[in-house]
Amino acid sequence: VTPARDTAADQLLEYSKEHPEGDEESVTTTFGIPIGEKDASLTVGYHGPILLQDWQLIDELSHFSRERIPERVVHAKGAGAFGYFEVTHDITQYTAATVFSHIGKKTPIAVRFSQVAGELGYPDTVRDLRGFAIKFYTEDGIWDLVGNNQPVFFVKDCILFPSFIHTVKRNPKTHLRPDYDMFWDFITLRQESTHTAMIMFSDRGIPASYRRMHGYGANTFAFVNAEGKFNYCKFHYLTNQGIQNLTSEQAQKIAGIDPDFHTRDLYNAIASGDYPSWNFYIQIMTPEQAAKSPYDPFDDTKVWLHADYPLIPVGKLVLNRNPKSYFAEVEQIGFNVAHLIPGIEPSPDRMLQGRLFNYGDTHRYRLGTNNLQLPVNSPFKVASYSRDGENTIHSQGGTPNYHPNSFKGPDNDKRASALAPILPISGDAKRIDSGNDDNYTQPRLLYQRVLKPEERGTLIQNIVSWLRPANAVLQDRAVAMFSKVDLDLGARIREQLHSLTPHHVVL
Ligand code: HEM
Repeated sequence: VTPARDTAADQLLEYSKEHPEGDEESVTTTFGIPIGEKDASLTVGYHGPILLQDWQLIDELSHFSRERIPERVVHAKGAGAFGYFEVTHDITQYTAATVFSHIGKKTPIAVRFSQVAGELGYPDTVRDLRGFAIKFYTEDGIWDLVGNNQPVFFVKDCILFPSFIHTVKRNPKTHLRPDYDMFWDFITLRQESTHTAMIMFSDRGIPASYRRMHGYGANTFAFVNAEGKFNYCKFHYLTNQGIQNLTSEQAQKIAGIDPDFHTRDLYNAIASGDYPSWNFYIQIMTPEQAAKSPYDPFDDTKVWLHADYPLIPVGKLVLNRNPKSYFAEVEQIGFNVAHLIPGIEPSPDRMLQGRLFNYGDTHRYRLGTNNLQLPVNSPFKVASYSRDGENTIHSQGGTPNYHPNSFKGPDNDKRASALAPILPISGDAKRIDSGNDDNYTQPRLLYQRVLKPEERGTLIQNIVSWLRPANAVLQDRAVAMFSKVDLDLGARIREQLHSLTPHHVVL
């Protein structure tokens, strides 16, 4: 699986080659003072205790005990890289966002790929969705497009997100995962998850590489053009490396041999100049089409059918630089769905609405108040009225720190104001459960029209391998749920569930 020596394995040799013999710098403390003896603490005699005045040791130990920060509550395991986005097609009729302003325009990007459910050290090759988040460093500030490798998600109301995530994390009593009862109980009680579950159990549930999967914004956004015209949109980024997936058996073996398989693959490809790229597309739906759509265009358990809303080419993403420091540039990167630049707006998508709040909140907890001043998260230019707080780095000097003011402090931006859309909103504030809006038509299309016969076979095998360890009541409920998608699908799952072939649980 892993070559004995690859580019990643040679990282230290490369470092050493770049630094001629005798070129080593003097070692210092974290406060920059040269150290005379690095490998001995300050003791009273050979066997004596260590002195409190050993600031060199205290510096080393106290920094060490603070090396970890909270891992992401979801998407903890991941890999990142840097590159650019280039516009190849004009879409200024749809949006005035400067990132799309002209063909040939290049914008620096950072990308982080991830698994969803496992922790920081979890194996890469598990059956799960993959995160595919892009940070665009635009002249109008940061635009974060925080997508996955699936066009749909398990639930569509953000209030269900923590519960769903609990079912794929560890059981709070046994501390074990996966807990098949938690998973199938939730999935069968919230059957809007059928569509995403079917994609997760299809061949695409375990990509062979981060480079060999597509990405999707999944949620519905909106575009505003220079005339103030408003349309809904979805984002797609399709791999130029070709889709490639692993079977459950391959993935399980690799998880044992090289738990960092995807991370290694991405690092080596970029280090050897084999830069991965994705073509970037949008789908556009007018407000008139949205009003008449037979399915809810703001429901992230559903796709917009390509036949009705074709993919419109926009540009390409290229990754051509590995992180200089994993911690500084990947662990500390923070993607925030609320970071939308003028010309790109949210839609009423219930999931998106919850996400608009949650990411900034988690960054303030995980990375601190001034997380946007960390170099990897920092926009090119900030002229805000916020000041101070833990770890302030950015200085705005003598610029007024209150608004309005009479002393030439930053003021309203006319272009941003012209692009702010008017959202007509009405209705009674109510909690309306949205779980039963036709949960089966699109999964049926997937099963009957999209999947080839052999792909239907692996889908069924994968569902059965996760369903077998669940309790009998949940197995029956899942069979009934899949029968609503297609009677043949339900019948084949039931038949294989009750066959007596020896079975081992697949990750
Ligand atoms: C990460 C919340 C739905 C994609 C996260 C994080 C939180 C979160 C708290 C950790 C962020 C961090 O610590 O930096 C939510 C909530 C959701 C939701 C509340 C629904 C209400 C989704 C959906 C997608 C998605 C639908 C994909 C379309 C991602 C990705 C990351 C992430 C890719 C990892 C970002 C990174 O690489 O740093 N989410 N999420 N999430 N989420 Fe979501």
